[in-house]
Amino acid sequence: MVTQALLKQYHQLKELIREHDHRYYVLDDPTIPDADYDELFQELKAIEQNHPELITRDSPTQRVGGEALKNFSSVTHLSPMLSLDNAFSIEELERFEQRIKQILGNEITELDYSCEPKFDGIAVSLLYENAILVRGATRGDGTVGEDITENIRTIPSIPLKLTGKHIPRLIEVRGEVYMPKVSFFKLNQMAASSGIKEFANPRNAAAGSLRQLDPKITAKRQLAFYSYGAQVEKDQSWPKNHYDSLMQLKEWGIRICPESKIVKGIAKVQAAWELLLKKRDNLPYEIDGMVVKVNDFALQNELGFVARAPRFAVAYKFPAQEKKTKLLDVDFQVGRTGTLTPVARLEPVSVGGVTVSNATLHNMDEIARKDVRINDWVVVRRAGDVIPEVVRPILEERGQDTKAIKAPTKCPVCGSQVVRVEGEAALRCEGGLVCSAQLIEHIKHFVARRAMDIEGLGSKLVEQLVNQKVIESVADLYHLTKPQLMALERMGEKSATNLLTAIENSKKTTFAKFLYALGIREVGEATANLLAENFTNLDELMQADEEALLALPDVGPVVAQQIRAFFAEKANQKIISALLKAGIEWTIVKPILHEGSLSLKGKSYVITGTLKYPRDEIKLQLQQKGAKVVESVSAKTDGVIVGEKPGSKYKKAQTLGIPILGEAELEKLLKE
Ligand code: IVH
Repeated sequence: MVTQALLKQYHQLKELIREHDHRYYVLDDPTIPDADYDELFQELKAIEQNHPELITRDSPTQRVGGEALKNFSSVTHLSPMLSLDNAFSIEELERFEQRIKQILGNEITELDYSCEPKFDGIAVSLLYENAILVRGATRGDGTVGEDITENIRTIPSIPLKLTGKHIPRLIEVRGEVYMPKVSFFKLNQMAASSGIKEFANPRNAAAGSLRQLDPKITAKRQLAFYSYGAQVEKDQSWPKNHYDSLMQLKEWGIRICPESKIVKGIAKVQAAWELLLKKRDNLPYEIDGMVVKVNDFALQNELGFVARAPRFAVAYKFPAQEKKTKLLDVDFQVGRTGTLTPVARLEPVSVGGVTVSNATLHNMDEIARKDVRINDWVVVRRAGDVIPEVVRPILEERGQDTKAIKAPTKCPVCGSQVVRVEGEAALRCEGGLVCSAQLIEHIKHFVARRAMDIEGLGSKLVEQLVNQKVIESVADLYHLTKPQLMALERMGEKSATNLLTAIENSKKTTFAKFLYALGIREVGEATANLLAENFTNLDELMQADEEALLALPDVGPVVAQQIRAFFAEKANQKIISALLKAGIEWTIVKPILHEGSLSLKGKSYVITGTLKYPRDEIKLQLQQKGAKVVESVSAKTDGVIVGEKPGSKYKKAQTLGIPILGEAELEKLLKE
């Protein structure tokens, strides 16, 4: 029996712990010793152990969920998560302001700007419904991200529940999840001592930690969060400027960076930037610049957006970090399309806290232009996430023992002829998919998450499969057998079975993903989507003439030529037909929409469990009929589509009495 007194004690304890968590993780200002905190926590746990019926998802004991997930589902953001334009110099910053003044009119003199660190982490969106954290998602491509709620819940500086007054019914908080520098060093030290591959930088470590299917692992990674903005529904009251909105979020328990401030006029922005740059190395987290935003929301609205970035904000980047080291040798790496990239092997050097022992030299033209030689002292630079590069040799320190870097005439991997493509700087191995390096990269691309999405087929396995000649093309993946897999290193029966299932599951895909997976030169995800939207089927695309391709927006002569060349190649035709024969399929979505077909306009659906068709496909079809596909079930949901092994959403729908749709009902709905 839960007495009133116990219930009261339980709630008080929960609130007290929440308050201490807030003080410790959000405000960096704890008021009690750790031991006292632990005692409170144990007390709460004891009550919950005796009365599990009391436990709610927002209890401080419930941060780390139970089971590992099989995969992340995708979520469509309430509004796209955009990116920022960069400024690399004071001139570019001034141009940013000039543009603003041109639009707002010259009577505007000194504008208020919010100046914030540009956190070098991973953008996330947090959805709070009735003050409770109900969803955490990655940015993804800006429109669709991944549902990482379980991982987000493990981050102690993200409150599971907002506290305070006038919290809007629905609020989407955006910000950056990052790994503090100390946590990064500790993680890498541990990795090094157990012989595991280290992370290149805190940003990759944060990304890797957020992409864990098992939230228990994420929980151990000591991630942190800073918010840089939020959105509420249109009819809700909201501060009139950005800075006040951050302060409002802070009131409700959201972590805001204390370095953020408001300044008047662009000259003060420059001063704030210089100050932040000085502080950079002493901050406990990595930043790669300062984000400058027009503070006033009304002015922000007036300024609007260009393409995918707002006109009212800019990322004013810090200069990249550079160090001196010795260039020991140069190797040539063969990429997916055969391009040979010269890679400098360096005497290891720490650049901005990251050990660099390899750096790109881009291509032979760059080597000649910079006059870099083996045994030179060179300046290496790394900036944020990009591959470190050799900037220049230090000519004053050039010794007698330097040697010229020679372009190979034969591919270092397969021995095929190396040619220089006319009009391009790159060298290319002529071996095509006969070259095992190209084949390996090609297969890695084919199986990647954004392509055929074969989980569990990592680089090491692909290398083994190719090097041991188990497979010679991507089509061979679909004929792999369990004994073949089990003969590979570190492959047990269970992993082999899982991999075969993943391969089987990948057969149900979308037209766009399939096209992207083929690895046609110049055809990235965006172009693949465009082609899939504009051609009814693969045959039509394969037969398309230049004119038909050029008619598409964003397709120029080079892209059109690559597409035509790819499909004209006999070997490619053979692989495509082998893939289709192996059972790869997708549903064709009618490309042309007109208002009359929006039979589901205004309706909202939730999908749970595994269905016959890929979830993306169902979602797209529903969206094409005007419906919204949302992540969580609420009283407003019009229906929940339930496949095999549904999750808690199914239960919730039953409780709320929301119509449940099986596969047959779904098909009917889509035919209407
Ligand atoms: S504001 C409309 N503020 O930078 C764009 N972004 O290049 C809203 N970032 O994806 C973003 N620190 O992940 C903003 N103080 C800050 C930021 C910040 C880091 C990241 C963010 C975004 C990327 C844009």
